[in-house]
Amino acid sequence: MTSTTTSTDHGLSKFHRLLLEQVRHEFTASQQYIALAAWFDEHDLPQLAGFFYRQSLEERDHAMMIVRFLIDSDVTVSIPATDEIRNDFDTARDLVALALRQEQEVTAQFQHLVKVAREENDYSGEEFLHWFLKEQREEVSTMSTLLAVVDRSNGNLFDVETFVARELSSTGEEDHTAPETAGPEVS
Ligand SMILES: [Fe+2]
Ligand SMILES: [Fe+2]
Repeated sequence: MTSTTTSTDHGLSKFHRLLLEQVRHEFTASQQYIALAAWFDEHDLPQLAGFFYRQSLEERDHAMMIVRFLIDSDVTVSIPATDEIRNDFDTARDLVALALRQEQEVTAQFQHLVKVAREENDYSGEEFLHWFLKEQREEVSTMSTLLAVVDRSNGNLFDVETFVARELSSTGEEDHTAPETAGPEVS
């Protein structure tokens, strides 16, 4: 029998299946940011290292927000391995460009999730995604500013360090609109 419904082999909606994949994307982003942070750390750029270590914790929290939502939606969660992590870089610009690309990809993933939630009339799922859309707008904007600053610095990474210390050093005040994580929040 062929099925034309939105259910998959696992009896999950397409939306829930994509959300399970999004857990993997967020953990991949988290691990990738640790790789970037470690590179900056090794290259004596502590502000950039600190920024990416903090970004890594945020991505980990994003994964755990989705885990919380899936558990609350009675979806059986299996925690995935991450995708391949890139560790070989030549210049600081490569790392920031990768971070921007990663945020753009994640934005596209959330936009697709919204589309699928709509197609499946999953209103509570769609509502859950709103915070992530806002978060992605901010993260793409931050990374594209950082890339512009790197380009403008003409290889003087100490200028970039000063910028990060001045503009990107604190995690800011707590965002009370953020979805709840499964277990403690770390960022
Ligand atoms: Fe994220
Ligand atoms: Fe992100």
